[in-house]
Amino acid sequence: MLLDLLHLLITPAPRAQRRLGYLRDSIWLMSRARRCRRAWAPHLAASRAVMRAAIAGTERRDTAVVLGSGLLLDVPLTDLARSFRRVVLVDAVHLRPAQRAIRAFSNVETLTADLSGAMGLMTGAARELEPCLPPVCAEPGTGLVISANLLSQLPIRPVARLEASRRPLGGWTPADGDAFGRRIVEAHLDALAGLKARVCLVTDIDETEEDRQGRIEARHDLLYGVRLGAPDEAWTWELAPFGEAARNRRLIHGVAGFSDWRA
Ligand SMILES: C[S@@+](CC[C@H](N)C(=O)[O-])C[C@H]1O[C@@H](n2cnc3c(N)ncnc32)[C@H](O)[C@@H]1O
Repeated sequence: MLLDLLHLLITPAPRAQRRLGYLRDSIWLMSRARRCRRAWAPHLAASRAVMRAAIAGTERRDTAVVLGSGLLLDVPLTDLARSFRRVVLVDAVHLRPAQRAIRAFSNVETLTADLSGAMGLMTGAARELEPCLPPVCAEPGTGLVISANLLSQLPIRPVARLEASRRPLGGWTPADGDAFGRRIVEAHLDALAGLKARVCLVTDIDETEEDRQGRIEARHDLLYGVRLGAPDEAWTWELAPFGEAARNRRLIHGVAGFSDWRA
């Protein structure tokens, strides 16, 4: 708790990210990752394996971009830094542990950006959803773009904000939460589909709530009905073991990994 507060105070983050809750979310995620280290390990290893396969299959080795780099838990940073001339890590927030980790590499840089395209709408600075990928993704030297367990996260804050607001955001009304969420997911995929670089996509797709007898209590589609096709690899991620979110309920996410998504 105290450590979380310290990170809240010392992390350099733009005002919008602080105000809209992105900084708090990242710190909360870091704490959960620490508590659930053992439960998360297979998921993190499986994610890194898909990304390593993508690195091995990429011919253009100038620039690699990681979208949703976060704490770099699921990102094979050393492999990327050794394989590419330049590595760009993109996230709404870069916490201190991630900033420290990149100091070991002279060719790794961070970029703070909104990847949902919805932050401008939420702050009132824009009237429409904005482009959601930074220009580096489309540079001629960029050979690999990795979307790293990011996709399902993109709609969370914008949909919550829309549903809690009394006024429309752009053309979206508070009753449009699901359609708005779907649009954000589709916009990320459309933007990835338009790139020349190889695209590696790793994302959780659904959440199952399970009791101690193994009975399924609820299931949630994290991608608002958007389907991705057959992944190279699929696995489950025990996001919240018993006792983490609730004493007698655990949360399990289904995850899909594509080392070359457009293929
Ligand atoms: C589940 S975490 C990904 C984990 C990360 N790849 C790692 O290895 O630690 C999701 C990440 O998406 C980022 N994120 C969520 N919404 C975002 C947005 N609108 N723009 C940029 N990053 C965002 C969060 O800050 C978080 O780091």
